[in-house]
Amino acid sequence: MDLNEDLGWIGMALGGPSVPFVPTRYEVLDLVFEALDLKDGDVFYDLGSGDGRIVAEAAKRYPIKKAVGVELRDELYKESIERIKREGLEGRVEIVHGDFFKVPISDATVVYMYLLTSVNEALKPKLKQELRPGTRVVTLDFQIPGWKPVKVVGDKGGWQRTLYVYVIGVSDV
Ligand SMILES: C[S@@+](CC[C@H](N)C(=O)[O-])C[C@H]1O[C@@H](n2cnc3c(N)ncnc32)[C@H](O)[C@@H]1O
Repeated sequence: MDLNEDLGWIGMALGGPSVPFVPTRYEVLDLVFEALDLKDGDVFYDLGSGDGRIVAEAAKRYPIKKAVGVELRDELYKESIERIKREGLEGRVEIVHGDFFKVPISDATVVYMYLLTSVNEALKPKLKQELRPGTRVVTLDFQIPGWKPVKVVGDKGGWQRTLYVYVIGVSDV
C-alpha cells in the first residue's frame, strides 16, 4: 500500500525529505512489538522517534540493552526527554536530537521506522552501509521500495495495521 498521496504527508524541507509527526497509536503497540520481536540484549533504534513513546515502551516491555530515539524537531525532542525522566528510563533510553540521515546507527540490532516510502527509499544506502547482516528493520505502513520483507505482520487493512519486517543481508540483495 502506498499511502503517500492519500495522506499528503510528503514535503521537501530545506535540502531533504521531511515527515510530519504522526505517532504510532497505543492501540497498535502489541502488533508493532510482535513485528519488532525484541530480545534480551538488543540495541533498538526508532528513526524519527516523535514523542519517544516507542523507545520508552520498548525499554519497559523488554530487557533490551538500550533503546535510542532519533528526533529532529525541538519540541518533540524535549517532550521525549521529559517522558524518559518521568518514567525513570534514563540509562536505558537515549534520545538523540538530530537528523537520522546523519546520526550513526551501526550498533543497532533492530530498527523501527514509521516514515514514508520516499524517505525509506532515501535511507536505503545508509541502512545498507551501516547495519550489520542480520539486523532487523521494521516499517509501519510504508514499505522499503525494492527490498523484500521476510515477514508481513498485520492484515494490510488500512492505516497503522501492517508492519514490514526486513533483514539486512537477506531483504536488500
Ligand atoms: C510519523 S512520525 C513517527 C514517530 C514515532 N516513530 C512513532 O511511531 O510514534 C515521524 C517522525 O520523524 C521525525 N523526523 C522526520 N524527519 C526526520 C529526520 N530527518 N531526522 C530525525 N527525525 C525526523 C518527525 O519529526 C516525526 O516525529
